[in-house]
Amino acid sequence: MKHGFWVIILIFFMSCNDKTKKDEKAEVVYDMYVPSEMTVLMKELYAFNLQLKKQVVNDETLTPLPEQFLNIHTAQLSNFKARTERFKSFSNIFLTAQKEIYNTKSDISLKDRFNNTINTCISCHSLECTGPIPKIKKLLISQ
Ligand code: HEC
Repeated sequence: MKHGFWVIILIFFMSCNDKTKKDEKAEVVYDMYVPSEMTVLMKELYAFNLQLKKQVVNDETLTPLPEQFLNIHTAQLSNFKARTERFKSFSNIFLTAQKEIYNTKSDISLKDRFNNTINTCISCHSLECTGPIPKIKKLLISQ
């Protein structure tokens, strides 16, 4: 049992990090890993913004924002995580920034609007889930 305790602690800390690193004992304890809706959404968000980055850099037409991103408010988090008020406000700040990328009348340059969005991803992650931050930082367009 002493061992099991550490496995649970390990899962807790790795929960929002790379799931593939989880050891086999952890799989036995928790059955198969089923990604939360939030994890699926985050992967889509990442892929979408990677594509958007290329379009911004190459001055191409931007792919419209997929509707499902608005689900960040309702997508289920990994079971042990509750949605806090702070989380909700970070979701709003993020969505506002992401939509602002499409505001062609903005005084802020497209590149800055894109980077602002990525910085809102990082802000939420610095409080909720620090693991993917290095990966997210790579989305930033260098000035
Ligand atoms: C409102 C907070 C919040 C915002 C904003 C946010 N994230 Fe996340 N992100 C999370 C949480 C929480 C998780 C962990 C999901 C879980 O465990 O259910 C996560 C998980 C991830 C993951 C890991 C998914 C996996 O493979 O397990 C990536 C990558 C990621 N986010 C990228 C991004 C990117 C890119 C953005 C911005 C375009 C972003 N996130 C914006 C909170 C946020």
